[in-house]
Amino acid sequence: MSTETAVAPAATPRPRFPESFLWGGATAANQVEGAYDVDGKGLSIQDVMPRGIFAAPTDGPTPDNLKLEAIDFYHRYAQDIALFAEMGFSVFRFSIAWSRIFPNGDEEEPNEAGLAFYDRVLDELERYGITPLVTISHYETPLHLARAYDGWVSRELIGFYERYVRVLFARYGHRVKHWLTFNEINSVLHVPLMSGGIMTPREELSPTALYQAAHHELVASALATKIAHETGLGLQVGCMVIAMPIYPLTPDPADVLAVMHADHANLMFSDVHTRGVYPGYALRHFREHGIELDITDEDRELLRHTVDFVSFSYYMSQCESADPAAAPGPGNLIGGTTNPHLPASEWGWQIDPVGLRIVLNQFWDRWGKPLFIVENGLGAKDELVEVDGVPTVVDDYRIAYLNDHLVQVAEAIQDGVQVLGYTTWGPIDLVSASTAQLSKRYGFIYVDRHDDGSGTLTRYRKKSFGWYADVIATRGASLRG
Ligand code: BG6
Repeated sequence: MSTETAVAPAATPRPRFPESFLWGGATAANQVEGAYDVDGKGLSIQDVMPRGIFAAPTDGPTPDNLKLEAIDFYHRYAQDIALFAEMGFSVFRFSIAWSRIFPNGDEEEPNEAGLAFYDRVLDELERYGITPLVTISHYETPLHLARAYDGWVSRELIGFYERYVRVLFARYGHRVKHWLTFNEINSVLHVPLMSGGIMTPREELSPTALYQAAHHELVASALATKIAHETGLGLQVGCMVIAMPIYPLTPDPADVLAVMHADHANLMFSDVHTRGVYPGYALRHFREHGIELDITDEDRELLRHTVDFVSFSYYMSQCESADPAAAPGPGNLIGGTTNPHLPASEWGWQIDPVGLRIVLNQFWDRWGKPLFIVENGLGAKDELVEVDGVPTVVDDYRIAYLNDHLVQVAEAIQDGVQVLGYTTWGPIDLVSASTAQLSKRYGFIYVDRHDDGSGTLTRYRKKSFGWYADVIATRGASLRG
């Protein structure tokens, strides 16, 4: 390598994103709010899942459950939203905790104190002109519905969910125009308790019961869409899925076919949401696996109420192989085989910015519906240091991750894909869904709280905070690459 000092060529600014493009961040109630039993809130499944998705639920809340206090957004939302506004957010995605509104899930009347909390959050967003994007159900089924009904296995949940969404649309419909029905609805096949509130252990759950639960969620989602459209308030409803581009491990047609089947299991959910009917490949799967679903004529009618847009989380891609010996690697809920060409995060999630462009094109070509990237980010261990006397985190790794993904979003827009916006996962550090850790940090804002529950909850701006503010202010022109 030459020792001469190279003069870096002036970077050419990248093209700007469309003016209407929404920029922001996304959270979920159970991962930020805390206050798990305040103002009449009932317990949710998260309050008895202290160790993440792979452990059995406990009998009740335990002190080692970080979600009970989380990052105390319930009391600090005004300060946190002010920080989001400082970065220039035009959208904030958050979820409403079902068990704040209906503590048990099956009551006739909602809990006014719970409703009032989200009024306050919306007031604060309005103060800064930030558009709310609300997830109706984000991995937080009321515990009573899980224990008494086995969650979404029971058809009765459709009625409870209907009552809940009617309350939400009546209360907030004049100020919240964008709604997501279920977070990562396709994950119910992989994590039935967290995703579907299903208490029956995974190994004892029959395929019929599992797909019946998925069907009930699909019907509930369509019903919510129908109700939203009938309000006449111009509400826009999106489904929300895990996007996971799947590559064949080799060009062997058997591997390519394995990819097709894995894709079908994931894409069925958005196929139903966008087309209003079950695709032929799903019906064949049900037939050949002895899966006999109870699908009524009324269900079929409801499913025809299709969504206005498709939203998704994107963290990683995966490989698929027909070889049963190909070992599954770690990943975001849907496990696949490790790709030898990609680096991985500290938690083993493989980093693949190009996969985001691929999935945006795939989804656009398949459904022709506007797309919204509602989760993307890097979970990493951060170290709080002092720079010029100010506590911060020098998170260049996070900046690189987000930069590279946003460059691919820009490429997809150039490809002709209609993308409504982008919300990073965890604009502020929060409790991880899969591992229940706080040390798996995603934020632009560092929260002084640790896996052992210690910490002052003080917020600090990381280096990425200023970086994201620049990206938003320049509408992406400051991105590199
Ligand atoms: C998505 C979920 O699967 O990924 C979020 O919608 C979750 O709730 C996010 O937090 C990141 O996953 P994790 O396991 O790192 O928190």
